[in-house]
Amino acid sequence: VNLVFLGPPGAGKGTQSSYIINEYKVVQISTGDILRSAVKEGTELGKMAKKYMDEGKLVPDDVIIGIVRERLKQDDCKNGFILDGFPRTIPQAVSLDAMLKDDLNISLTHIISLEVDDNLIMERLTGRRTCKGCGKVYHIKYNPPKKEGVCDDCGGELYQRDDDKEETIAKRLKVYHEQTSALKDYYKNSGKLYVVDGVGEVGDIYRKIKEILG
Ligand code: AP5
Ligand code: ZN
Repeated sequence: VNLVFLGPPGAGKGTQSSYIINEYKVVQISTGDILRSAVKEGTELGKMAKKYMDEGKLVPDDVIIGIVRERLKQDDCKNGFILDGFPRTIPQAVSLDAMLKDDLNISLTHIISLEVDDNLIMERLTGRRTCKGCGKVYHIKYNPPKKEGVCDDCGGELYQRDDDKEETIAKRLKVYHEQTSALKDYYKNSGKLYVVDGVGEVGDIYRKIKEILG
C-alpha cells in the first residue's frame, strides 16, 4: 500500500492512519507531525514553520517537498507508506509524481479522499486532544480517554494543538478549499482515487477503507 490521504483538516486522516499502520505494517508520513516536532525541538525549520502554522497557512512548497523527498528515501518506506497531509497543492503533487517515478521507481496504489462537511470540522477540532507522550489522538466527546486529560496507552498528558483555535481552524478550512481540494481533480483520471464519507463511527469508516485497500 502506497497511499495518499486527502481531506480537510479534522476529517480523520490521522485517526484512520493509526489503524492502517498497525494492520498493514506501513509507515505513516505526516508532514504536520514532522513540522510539529521541529517546532518542539526549536530547529530552524521549526521556527520558520511555526509562523505559517499559527496563521493556518501552508508552509512553502519547496520546504515541504524537501522534507518528503528525504523521508521517502528511507528504507522503512519500502514496505509501503501513508502520506497524511501531503500533497496539499498542485506543485506538491507534481513533485511527488516525479520523486516516485524518477528517484524511487514506484507508484501510488490508492488515493483516498476522506470527506467531512465544514460544519462538523469545528467541533471535531476544538474537541481534539493529543497525547504528549505517544501522539495518540482523542476527542473530548467522540473518543474520550478513560481518565480526563490522561492517555489510555502511555499515561501521557493530553494537550490541545496551537492551531486548533476557532479562528485558525476557519483559516485552515479556507486554505483547504482554495488550494487543496483541487487535488481531487488532479488524481481523477488516475483510476486510483476513492472517495470515502468521513462522517460516522471511526470503526465503520475504517472498514470502508479496508475494503478499498484489500
Ligand atoms: P496537519 O497536521 O496536516 O493538519 P490538518 O491537515 O489540518 O489535519 P488534522 O491533523 O487537523 O486532521 P486529521 O484529518 O488528521 O484529523 P484527526 O484524525 O486528528 O497540518 C497542520 C499545519 O502544518 C498546516 O496548517 C500547515 O501549516 C502545515 N502543513 C502540514 N502539511 C503541509 C503541506 N503538505 N504543505 C504545506 N503546509 C503543511 O481527527 C480530528 C478530530 O476528530 C480528533 O479529535 C478525532 O478524535 C476526531 N475524529 C476522528 N474521526 C472521527 C469520527 N469518525 N467521528 C467523530 N470524531 C472523529
Ligand atoms: Zn500516549
